[in-house]
Amino acid sequence: MMRLRLLLVSLVSVPLFAQSGSAPTLAAKPPMGWNSWNWFAGKVTDKDIRQAADLIVSSGMKDAGYNYVNIDDTWEGQRDANGVLHTNEKFPDMKALADYVHSKGLKLGIYSSPGPKTCAGFEGSYQHEQQDADLYASWGIDYLKYDLCGFRKIMDQEAPNDKAKQNQMMRDAYEKMHQAIVKTGRPMVYSLCQYGWDSVWQWGPEVGANLWRTTGDINPTFERMAFIGRAQAGLSKYAAPGHWNDPDMLEVGNGKLSLDENRVHMGMWAMLASPLLAGNNLSQLTPEVTAVLTNREVIAIDQDPLGKQAERIYVEGPIEIWARPLADGSRALAIFNFGEDDNYMRGISLHLKEAGADNGWHAHDVWTDKDLGPIMDNTNFTLKRHASVLLRLSR
Ligand code: GAL
Repeated sequence: MMRLRLLLVSLVSVPLFAQSGSAPTLAAKPPMGWNSWNWFAGKVTDKDIRQAADLIVSSGMKDAGYNYVNIDDTWEGQRDANGVLHTNEKFPDMKALADYVHSKGLKLGIYSSPGPKTCAGFEGSYQHEQQDADLYASWGIDYLKYDLCGFRKIMDQEAPNDKAKQNQMMRDAYEKMHQAIVKTGRPMVYSLCQYGWDSVWQWGPEVGANLWRTTGDINPTFERMAFIGRAQAGLSKYAAPGHWNDPDMLEVGNGKLSLDENRVHMGMWAMLASPLLAGNNLSQLTPEVTAVLTNREVIAIDQDPLGKQAERIYVEGPIEIWARPLADGSRALAIFNFGEDDNYMRGISLHLKEAGADNGWHAHDVWTDKDLGPIMDNTNFTLKRHASVLLRLSR
Protein backbone atom coordinates (compact mmCIF):
# COMPACT_ATOMS: atom_id res chain seq x y z
CA MET A 1 0.00 0.00 0.00
CA MET A 2 1.34 3.38 -0.94
CA ARG A 3 2.39 5.53 1.97
CA LEU A 4 1.64 9.14 1.65
CA ARG A 5 3.07 11.50 4.19
CA LEU A 6 1.48 14.86 4.47
CA LEU A 7 3.04 18.12 5.37
CA LEU A 8 3.27 18.36 9.11
CA VAL A 9 1.89 21.57 10.41
CA SER A 10 3.31 22.59 13.73
CA LEU A 11 0.90 21.95 16.53
CA VAL A 12 2.42 24.55 18.74
CA SER A 13 2.69 27.58 16.45
CA VAL A 14 1.11 30.84 17.53
CA PRO A 15 -2.34 31.31 16.00
CA LEU A 16 -2.22 33.85 13.17
CA PHE A 17 -5.11 35.89 14.43
CA ALA A 18 -4.70 35.48 18.17
CA GLN A 19 -6.03 38.63 19.72
CA SER A 20 -3.24 40.28 21.57
CA GLY A 21 -3.84 41.62 25.04
CA SER A 22 -7.36 40.99 26.27
CA ALA A 23 -9.06 37.66 25.66
CA PRO A 24 -12.09 37.72 23.33
CA THR A 25 -15.42 37.92 25.12
CA LEU A 26 -17.51 36.57 22.23
CA ALA A 27 -16.94 33.02 21.02
CA ALA A 28 -13.86 32.55 23.19
CA LYS A 29 -14.72 28.90 22.66
CA PRO A 30 -16.40 27.42 19.56
CA PRO A 31 -20.12 28.28 19.79
CA MET A 32 -22.42 25.41 20.75
CA GLY A 33 -26.13 25.14 20.13
CA TRP A 34 -28.72 24.03 17.63
CA ASN A 35 -29.80 25.35 14.23
CA SER A 36 -33.12 24.79 12.47
CA TRP A 37 -31.92 24.27 8.89
CA ASN A 38 -30.69 20.68 8.68
CA TRP A 39 -33.93 19.22 9.99
CA PHE A 40 -36.72 21.78 9.41
CA ALA A 41 -35.32 23.76 6.46
CA GLY A 42 -38.10 26.08 5.16
CA LYS A 43 -40.78 24.62 7.43
CA VAL A 44 -39.46 26.00 10.73
CA THR A 45 -41.95 27.88 12.92
CA ASP A 46 -42.01 29.77 16.22
CA LYS A 47 -43.44 26.64 17.84
CA ASP A 48 -40.52 24.51 16.61
CA ILE A 49 -38.01 26.97 18.06
CA ARG A 50 -39.77 27.03 21.44
CA GLN A 51 -39.89 23.25 21.44
CA ALA A 52 -36.21 23.07 20.51
CA ALA A 53 -35.39 25.34 23.45
CA ASP A 54 -37.47 23.14 25.80
CA LEU A 55 -35.78 19.99 24.52
CA ILE A 56 -32.26 21.39 24.73
CA VAL A 57 -32.93 21.87 28.43
CA SER A 58 -34.79 18.60 29.13
CA SER A 59 -32.39 16.42 27.12
CA GLY A 60 -29.37 17.60 29.11
CA MET A 61 -27.85 19.32 26.08
CA LYS A 62 -27.92 22.68 27.82
CA ASP A 63 -25.99 21.25 30.75
CA ALA A 64 -23.47 19.85 28.26
CA GLY A 65 -22.88 23.36 26.87
CA TYR A 66 -25.35 23.83 24.00
CA ASN A 67 -26.79 27.30 24.46
CA TYR A 68 -27.56 28.96 21.11
CA VAL A 69 -30.92 28.26 19.49
CA ASN A 70 -30.53 29.48 15.93
CA ILE A 71 -33.31 30.22 13.49
CA ASP A 72 -32.03 29.76 9.95
CA ASP A 73 -33.59 31.01 6.72
CA THR A 74 -37.37 31.48 6.10
CA TRP A 75 -38.45 33.57 9.10
CA GLU A 76 -38.47 36.80 7.06
CA GLY A 77 -41.61 38.65 5.93
CA GLN A 78 -41.90 41.93 4.00
CA ARG A 79 -40.57 45.46 4.57
CA ASP A 80 -43.07 48.19 5.35
CA ALA A 81 -43.10 51.70 3.83
CA ASN A 82 -40.30 52.73 6.21
CA GLY A 83 -38.15 49.79 5.20
CA VAL A 84 -38.67 48.03 8.51
CA LEU A 85 -38.57 44.27 8.06
CA HIS A 86 -41.40 42.19 9.51
CA THR A 87 -41.48 38.51 10.26
CA ASN A 88 -43.72 36.19 8.26
CA GLU A 89 -46.74 34.32 9.63
CA LYS A 90 -44.60 31.43 10.92
CA PHE A 91 -43.02 33.82 13.46
CA PRO A 92 -45.77 36.03 14.87
CA ASP A 93 -43.69 37.76 17.56
CA MET A 94 -39.90 37.56 17.48
CA LYS A 95 -39.43 39.59 20.65
CA ALA A 96 -41.70 37.24 22.58
CA LEU A 97 -39.84 34.28 21.12
CA ALA A 98 -36.49 35.76 22.18
CA ASP A 99 -37.87 36.37 25.67
CA TYR A 100 -39.00 32.75 25.85
CA VAL A 101 -35.65 31.38 24.72
CA HIS A 102 -33.84 33.69 27.16
CA SER A 103 -36.14 32.59 30.00
CA LYS A 104 -34.69 29.09 29.52
CA GLY A 105 -31.17 30.43 30.00
CA LEU A 106 -30.46 30.07 26.27
CA LYS A 107 -29.60 32.52 23.49
CA LEU A 108 -31.34 33.20 20.19
CA GLY A 109 -29.71 33.33 16.77
CA ILE A 110 -31.09 34.56 13.47
CA TYR A 111 -30.19 34.48 9.78
CA SER A 112 -29.92 36.98 6.94
CA SER A 113 -28.03 37.77 3.73
CA PRO A 114 -26.04 40.76 2.50
CA GLY A 115 -28.02 40.35 -0.74
CA PRO A 116 -31.55 41.54 -1.53
CA LYS A 117 -32.71 37.92 -1.19
CA THR A 118 -31.67 34.97 0.98
CA CYS A 119 -30.91 31.54 -0.43
CA ALA A 120 -34.51 30.48 0.04
CA GLY A 121 -35.70 33.66 -1.70
CA PHE A 122 -36.75 35.60 1.40
CA GLU A 123 -35.95 39.24 2.19
CA GLY A 124 -32.20 39.93 2.70
CA SER A 125 -30.51 42.90 4.37
CA TYR A 126 -29.12 44.62 1.23
CA GLN A 127 -29.19 48.40 1.80
CA HIS A 128 -31.00 47.86 5.12
CA GLU A 129 -28.04 46.64 7.15
CA GLN A 130 -28.25 49.10 10.05
CA GLN A 131 -32.02 48.95 10.14
CA ASP A 132 -31.92 45.17 10.38
CA ALA A 133 -29.11 45.07 12.95
CA ASP A 134 -31.08 47.53 15.09
CA LEU A 135 -34.17 45.36 14.71
CA TYR A 136 -32.27 42.23 15.81
CA ALA A 137 -30.89 44.12 18.80
CA SER A 138 -34.37 45.36 19.75
CA TRP A 139 -35.62 41.77 19.72
CA GLY A 140 -32.67 40.57 21.81
CA ILE A 141 -30.89 38.52 19.15
CA ASP A 142 -27.51 37.08 20.23
CA TYR A 143 -26.12 35.56 17.03
CA LEU A 144 -26.31 36.33 13.30
CA LYS A 145 -25.56 33.92 10.46
CA TYR A 146 -25.00 36.05 7.36
CA ASP A 147 -25.28 34.06 4.14
CA LEU A 148 -23.87 35.45 0.88
CA CYS A 149 -26.55 34.07 -1.45
CA GLY A 150 -28.43 36.95 -3.12
CA PHE A 151 -25.36 39.18 -2.93
CA ARG A 152 -23.72 37.07 -5.63
CA LYS A 153 -26.11 38.64 -8.13
CA ILE A 154 -25.05 42.12 -7.04
CA MET A 155 -21.40 41.11 -7.45
CA ASP A 156 -22.07 39.79 -10.94
CA GLN A 157 -23.99 42.89 -11.93
CA GLU A 158 -21.55 45.44 -10.56
CA ALA A 159 -18.28 43.72 -11.38
CA PRO A 160 -18.89 41.23 -14.20
CA ASN A 161 -15.82 39.05 -14.81
CA ASP A 162 -13.76 40.94 -12.23
CA LYS A 163 -12.97 38.40 -9.51
CA ALA A 164 -10.75 40.75 -7.52
CA LYS A 165 -13.43 43.42 -7.37
CA GLN A 166 -16.09 40.85 -6.53
CA ASN A 167 -13.98 39.55 -3.66
CA GLN A 168 -13.53 43.08 -2.35
CA MET A 169 -17.28 43.69 -2.60
CA MET A 170 -17.87 40.52 -0.60
CA ARG A 171 -15.50 41.62 2.17
CA ASP A 172 -17.04 45.09 2.23
CA ALA A 173 -20.53 43.61 2.53
CA TYR A 174 -19.47 41.51 5.53
CA GLU A 175 -17.66 44.44 7.12
CA LYS A 176 -20.73 46.63 6.65
CA MET A 177 -22.93 44.30 8.68
CA HIS A 178 -20.18 43.91 11.25
CA GLN A 179 -20.10 47.68 11.74
CA ALA A 180 -23.89 47.77 11.93
CA ILE A 181 -23.87 45.15 14.69
CA VAL A 182 -21.15 46.99 16.61
CA LYS A 183 -23.22 50.17 16.39
CA THR A 184 -26.21 48.49 18.05
CA GLY A 185 -24.10 48.01 21.17
CA ARG A 186 -25.50 44.48 21.57
CA PRO A 187 -22.96 41.65 21.41
CA MET A 188 -23.89 39.19 18.65
CA VAL A 189 -21.81 36.26 17.52
CA TYR A 190 -21.14 36.94 13.82
CA SER A 191 -21.18 33.86 11.59
CA LEU A 192 -20.11 34.18 7.95
CA CYS A 193 -21.61 31.81 5.41
CA GLN A 194 -20.04 32.17 1.97
CA TYR A 195 -18.86 28.58 1.55
CA GLY A 196 -15.14 29.31 2.03
CA TRP A 197 -14.79 31.55 -1.03
CA ASP A 198 -11.64 33.64 -1.42
CA SER A 199 -9.98 31.78 1.49
CA VAL A 200 -12.26 33.48 4.00
CA TRP A 201 -10.18 32.09 6.90
CA GLN A 202 -7.46 34.58 5.90
CA TRP A 203 -9.66 37.67 6.26
CA GLY A 204 -12.68 36.62 8.36
CA PRO A 205 -11.31 38.11 11.59
CA GLU A 206 -10.71 41.45 9.84
CA VAL A 207 -14.42 41.81 9.10
CA GLY A 208 -15.40 40.87 12.64
CA ALA A 209 -16.29 37.23 12.00
CA ASN A 210 -16.39 34.86 14.96
CA LEU A 211 -16.79 31.90 12.61
CA TRP A 212 -16.86 31.31 8.89
CA ARG A 213 -18.07 28.38 6.84
CA THR A 214 -15.20 26.72 5.01
CA THR A 215 -17.20 24.65 2.48
CA GLY A 216 -20.56 24.22 0.81
CA ASP A 217 -23.44 22.61 2.65
CA ILE A 218 -23.25 19.41 4.63
CA ASN A 219 -25.90 16.71 4.27
CA PRO A 220 -26.68 13.66 6.42
CA THR A 221 -24.48 11.18 4.58
CA PHE A 222 -21.19 9.74 5.78
CA GLU A 223 -19.56 10.61 2.44
CA ARG A 224 -20.41 14.32 2.52
CA MET A 225 -19.60 14.66 6.23
CA ALA A 226 -16.24 12.90 5.79
CA PHE A 227 -15.42 14.95 2.70
CA ILE A 228 -16.03 18.21 4.57
CA GLY A 229 -14.13 17.07 7.66
CA ARG A 230 -11.08 15.99 5.63
CA ALA A 231 -11.20 19.26 3.67
CA GLN A 232 -10.24 21.11 6.87
CA ALA A 233 -6.64 19.88 6.65
CA GLY A 234 -4.28 22.84 6.58
CA LEU A 235 -6.69 25.30 8.20
CA SER A 236 -5.67 24.83 11.84
CA LYS A 237 -3.57 27.98 12.02
CA TYR A 238 -6.59 30.17 11.27
CA ALA A 239 -8.61 29.07 14.29
CA ALA A 240 -8.19 30.74 17.67
CA PRO A 241 -10.32 31.94 20.57
CA GLY A 242 -12.79 34.43 19.11
CA HIS A 243 -12.75 33.08 15.54
CA TRP A 244 -13.25 29.59 14.22
CA ASN A 245 -13.33 27.59 11.03
CA ASP A 246 -16.87 26.29 10.54
CA PRO A 247 -17.22 22.98 8.67
CA ASP A 248 -21.03 23.39 8.93
CA MET A 249 -23.66 22.16 11.33
CA LEU A 250 -23.81 18.68 12.82
CA GLU A 251 -25.87 15.98 11.15
CA VAL A 252 -25.52 13.69 14.19
CA GLY A 253 -28.89 11.95 14.51
CA ASN A 254 -29.97 12.77 10.95
CA GLY A 255 -30.27 10.51 7.96
CA LYS A 256 -29.10 6.96 8.46
CA LEU A 257 -25.79 7.63 10.20
CA SER A 258 -24.77 4.64 12.33
CA LEU A 259 -23.33 4.95 15.84
CA ASP A 260 -19.78 4.63 14.45
CA GLU A 261 -20.53 7.27 11.81
CA ASN A 262 -22.06 9.66 14.33
CA ARG A 263 -18.94 9.23 16.48
CA VAL A 264 -16.64 9.93 13.52
CA HIS A 265 -18.67 13.09 12.83
CA MET A 266 -18.80 14.36 16.41
CA GLY A 267 -15.19 13.35 17.15
CA MET A 268 -13.89 14.96 13.99
CA TRP A 269 -15.75 18.21 14.68
CA ALA A 270 -14.42 18.22 18.25
CA MET A 271 -10.87 17.68 17.00
CA LEU A 272 -11.41 20.59 14.60
CA ALA A 273 -12.45 22.97 17.40
CA SER A 274 -15.54 23.36 15.26
CA PRO A 275 -18.70 25.13 16.32
CA LEU A 276 -21.04 22.40 17.58
CA LEU A 277 -24.46 23.29 16.22
CA ALA A 278 -26.69 20.27 16.32
CA GLY A 279 -29.06 20.10 13.35
CA ASN A 280 -31.23 17.17 14.28
CA ASN A 281 -34.87 16.68 15.25
CA LEU A 282 -34.66 17.08 19.01
CA SER A 283 -38.12 15.59 19.54
CA GLN A 284 -36.78 12.26 18.24
CA LEU A 285 -33.56 12.14 20.25
CA THR A 286 -32.56 8.56 20.98
CA PRO A 287 -30.38 7.71 24.01
CA GLU A 288 -27.62 6.81 21.53
CA VAL A 289 -27.69 10.16 19.73
CA THR A 290 -28.00 12.08 23.01
CA ALA A 291 -24.95 10.22 24.33
CA VAL A 292 -22.91 11.16 21.25
CA LEU A 293 -23.97 14.81 21.37
CA THR A 294 -23.44 15.23 25.11
CA ASN A 295 -20.26 13.20 25.67
CA ARG A 296 -18.44 15.41 28.17
CA GLU A 297 -14.93 14.34 27.23
CA VAL A 298 -15.50 14.89 23.53
CA ILE A 299 -17.01 18.31 24.22
CA ALA A 300 -14.05 19.15 26.47
CA ILE A 301 -11.73 18.52 23.52
CA ASP A 302 -13.82 20.76 21.27
CA GLN A 303 -14.07 23.47 23.91
CA ASP A 304 -10.49 23.26 25.14
CA PRO A 305 -9.43 26.76 26.22
CA LEU A 306 -6.22 26.67 24.19
CA GLY A 307 -8.44 26.78 21.09
CA LYS A 308 -5.98 24.92 18.85
CA GLN A 309 -7.66 23.13 15.97
CA ALA A 310 -6.33 19.66 15.11
CA GLU A 311 -4.14 19.07 12.09
CA ARG A 312 -3.84 15.92 10.02
CA ILE A 313 -0.52 14.31 10.86
CA TYR A 314 -0.78 11.13 8.84
CA VAL A 315 -2.79 9.65 6.02
CA GLU A 316 -2.63 6.28 4.39
CA GLY A 317 -5.51 5.58 2.07
CA PRO A 318 -8.71 5.81 4.08
CA ILE A 319 -6.88 5.92 7.44
CA GLU A 320 -6.11 9.35 8.86
CA ILE A 321 -4.55 10.46 12.13
CA TRP A 322 -5.29 13.95 13.46
CA ALA A 323 -3.90 15.54 16.61
CA ARG A 324 -4.25 18.70 18.66
CA PRO A 325 -2.60 20.04 21.80
CA LEU A 326 -4.78 20.76 24.82
CA ALA A 327 -4.46 23.42 27.49
CA ASP A 328 -3.34 21.03 30.27
CA GLY A 329 -0.40 19.76 28.20
CA SER A 330 -2.15 16.61 27.06
CA ARG A 331 -2.87 15.80 23.42
CA ALA A 332 -5.98 14.62 21.63
CA LEU A 333 -5.29 12.09 18.92
CA ALA A 334 -7.93 10.67 16.61
CA ILE A 335 -7.66 7.82 14.14
CA PHE A 336 -10.35 7.64 11.50
CA ASN A 337 -11.20 4.85 9.08
CA PHE A 338 -13.07 6.60 6.30
CA GLY A 339 -12.94 3.45 4.19
CA GLU A 340 -15.33 0.59 3.47
CA ASP A 341 -13.17 -2.20 4.93
CA ASP A 342 -12.34 -3.20 8.51
CA ASN A 343 -8.91 -3.69 10.11
CA TYR A 344 -6.87 -1.19 8.19
CA MET A 345 -4.65 -0.31 11.12
CA ARG A 346 -2.20 -3.21 11.11
CA GLY A 347 1.35 -1.99 11.09
CA ILE A 348 0.53 1.69 11.03
CA SER A 349 2.44 3.78 13.52
CA LEU A 350 0.47 6.23 15.64
CA HIS A 351 2.94 9.02 14.91
CA LEU A 352 2.99 10.03 18.56
CA LYS A 353 5.94 12.42 18.10
CA GLU A 354 4.10 14.36 15.43
CA ALA A 355 1.19 14.58 17.86
CA GLY A 356 3.49 16.13 20.45
CA ALA A 357 3.35 12.98 22.60
CA ASP A 358 5.72 10.07 23.06
CA ASN A 359 6.02 6.37 23.78
CA GLY A 360 4.86 5.62 27.30
CA TRP A 361 2.33 8.44 27.54
CA HIS A 362 -0.91 7.47 29.22
CA ALA A 363 -3.86 6.92 26.88
CA HIS A 364 -7.53 7.33 27.67
CA ASP A 365 -10.03 6.04 25.12
CA VAL A 366 -12.64 8.78 25.05
CA TRP A 367 -15.62 7.01 23.44
CA THR A 368 -15.32 3.86 25.54
CA ASP A 369 -14.18 5.81 28.63
CA LYS A 370 -11.40 3.28 29.25
CA ASP A 371 -7.85 3.84 30.42
CA LEU A 372 -5.52 2.03 28.07
CA GLY A 373 -2.36 2.54 30.12
CA PRO A 374 0.94 3.47 28.47
CA ILE A 375 0.74 3.81 24.71
CA MET A 376 3.47 3.03 22.17
CA ASP A 377 3.88 4.18 18.61
CA ASN A 378 3.17 0.64 17.47
CA THR A 379 0.15 0.02 19.71
CA ASN A 380 -2.36 -1.68 17.46
CA PHE A 381 -5.94 -0.62 16.89
CA THR A 382 -8.53 -2.38 14.81
CA LEU A 383 -10.88 0.04 13.17
CA LYS A 384 -14.07 -1.15 11.61
CA ARG A 385 -15.47 0.46 8.48
CA HIS A 386 -16.41 4.14 9.15
CA ALA A 387 -15.12 3.88 12.72
CA SER A 388 -12.70 5.93 14.79
CA VAL A 389 -10.62 5.92 17.94
CA LEU A 390 -10.40 9.10 19.96
CA LEU A 391 -7.63 9.25 22.56
CA ARG A 392 -6.59 11.72 25.19
CA LEU A 393 -2.85 11.32 25.79
CA SER A 394 -1.10 12.63 28.84
CA ARG A 395 2.44 12.42 30.10
C1 GAL B 1 -27.37 28.00 2.42
C2 GAL B 1 -26.57 27.77 3.68
C3 GAL B 1 -27.32 26.80 4.55
C4 GAL B 1 -28.68 27.36 4.88
C5 GAL B 1 -29.43 27.75 3.59
C6 GAL B 1 -30.71 28.50 3.89
O1 GAL B 1 -26.70 28.89 1.60
O2 GAL B 1 -25.29 27.29 3.36
O3 GAL B 1 -26.58 26.53 5.73
O4 GAL B 1 -28.52 28.50 5.69
O5 GAL B 1 -28.63 28.55 2.75
O6 GAL B 1 -31.38 28.94 2.74
